[in-house]
Amino acid sequence: KKKLIVLASGNGSNFEAIVRKLRNRYEIKLISENRDAYALQRAIKLNIDYELINYKYFRERESYNKKLFEYLKKEEPDLIALAGYMKILPEYIVEYFSGRILNIHPSLLPAFKGLNAIKQAFEYGVKYTGVTVHYVNNELDGGKIITQEVVKIEPEDTLETLEEKIHKLEHRLYPKVIDKVIRRLTISI
Ligand code: GAR
Repeated sequence: KKKLIVLASGNGSNFEAIVRKLRNRYEIKLISENRDAYALQRAIKLNIDYELINYKYFRERESYNKKLFEYLKKEEPDLIALAGYMKILPEYIVEYFSGRILNIHPSLLPAFKGLNAIKQAFEYGVKYTGVTVHYVNNELDGGKIITQEVVKIEPEDTLETLEEKIHKLEHRLYPKVIDKVIRRLTISI
């Protein structure tokens, strides 16, 4: 079985969607740096292996990153999927796993990079926003785009209803794209 590692810092709804759709096909593990991440509770509930690399235990970002790198190298994942991972990966991790790290972002990149992208789009007043899945490179929310899907913002939408639409789309889209990318990686070997 190919191995997929998911990195999540928070709620973990994308992690759960990935597990539900892909657990029969791949070995899945969760890494979180945040001991309060609800994603960890989901991993327990879903009976998925997880590793907490508690960011708060480390004096500097660099020692945390090194630990994360050691762990990832040891695990030898076929693919790494960021799913609400709120830290920036250092260059050497991105390079080592080049072409094998994906991220999902809740806007149509390059619009609304960074934090709270759904809110940014809503407050800007755009009529269409959406979801992007892309390869990770060394720029924040940069990297080659794999796919995008559009969500129309209706006049009656509130931030909450928009968030709901975006998350629903993410949960459908991300597992599908992850599956495709792993298959493609397998074929090209
Ligand atoms: C998702 O909406 C994801 O697109 C976003 O964080 C949320 C995590 O939700 N990621 C980013 O904003 C990355 N810049 P989840 O923890 O429920 O999967």
